[in-house]
Amino acid sequence: MFNSRIIGMGHYVPDNIVTNDDLSKIMDTSDAWIQERTGVKERRWAEPNTGNTTSTMGLKAAKIAIKNSGLKKEEIDFIIFATLSPDYFFPGPGVMIQNMLGMDTVGALDVRAQCSGFIYGISVADQFIKTGMYKNILVIGSEYHSCAIDKTTRGRTISVIFGDGAGAAVLSRETNNKKGILSTHLHSEGEYAKELSLLAPGFGTRWVNDIVKDNDPDDESYFPYMNGRLVFKNAVVRFEEVINEGLIKNKLNKEDIDLLVPHQANLRISQFIQRKLSLSDDKVYNNIMRYGNTTAASIPIALTEAYNEGKVKSGDLIVLAAFGAGFTWGSAIIRW
Ligand code: UT7
Repeated sequence: MFNSRIIGMGHYVPDNIVTNDDLSKIMDTSDAWIQERTGVKERRWAEPNTGNTTSTMGLKAAKIAIKNSGLKKEEIDFIIFATLSPDYFFPGPGVMIQNMLGMDTVGALDVRAQCSGFIYGISVADQFIKTGMYKNILVIGSEYHSCAIDKTTRGRTISVIFGDGAGAAVLSRETNNKKGILSTHLHSEGEYAKELSLLAPGFGTRWVNDIVKDNDPDDESYFPYMNGRLVFKNAVVRFEEVINEGLIKNKLNKEDIDLLVPHQANLRISQFIQRKLSLSDDKVYNNIMRYGNTTAASIPIALTEAYNEGKVKSGDLIVLAAFGAGFTWGSAIIRW
């Protein structure tokens, strides 16, 4: 059995910065409310007709990750793409990456685990690499939320939180079994599927604007719905639980954590977990202030930034953890 290790990362966010004050001009909200309840100061919302979609943003992040890995695209054996906002209902964006990168006919798998999508993705990649089936796998998390949220006061609970962006990582075979991904832990609880969901049947994000135009303006079913308080309450419990599950599995303690990179759901959630684990500020990486919640893209964007800032060093114990729609949640324990 082999281990897998992240050997290259990259991220891309659209140029268009939308501040809280910008939002307060189009809906009944305020910078003070958003910062106090979520920690978000600004987010990126891709402007229409700039060519940014979930797959094209994923492509930009993937190209940087491949370059940083030192591999040629021909050496990538498999693609995993995590998103809740695919360009189309089907096919998923994984095959678009295969085509846009001009890769050989490698397999492409789409992961639909929302905020936990990147952790599910690297877990799947890890299993393929462990067994020796594949050597190098590209894992992407990307979201184009801004084209499919209700930007009026009616949708403010959701629209102030979410942002667009993409992150990617190349995982590769590691022969030292004390390095790389030590374990991953995945969970779900479909009983809560409706609590954070978009249940309108059969469309991808590209179609939402047309659907909105042609539909009853009072029909909210084509926008995401979130029972914020219930999601929050479950998130804080599951985050802590799944991080501890990973630590116990590897006979590690919370004191061993060098850096926790939580899914950027809400700064208050990150701070709650930080307190529960008694971690100092330098041991938890947050960037929700700048990007909002980018769902499947949030961990790879944050991990790439943390790495670029020198906060992820060889030998460090890095913990990734996520919770979100499904509900799904998961963690990854990594010896860098
Ligand atoms: O990444 C996937 C997982 N997602 C999450 O983890 C999100 C978890 N949930 C949350 O982060 C929080 O529940 C929210 C940030 C979504 C909401 O914060 P909250 O403290 O739970 O607020 P609330 O929904 O209980 O609303 C409190 C008040 C309400 O007004 P009343 O009824 O007290 O008069 C809302 O109508 O705040 C109002 N409100 C807003 N006011 C200004 C809700 N959204 C806004 C807004 N601006 N954007």
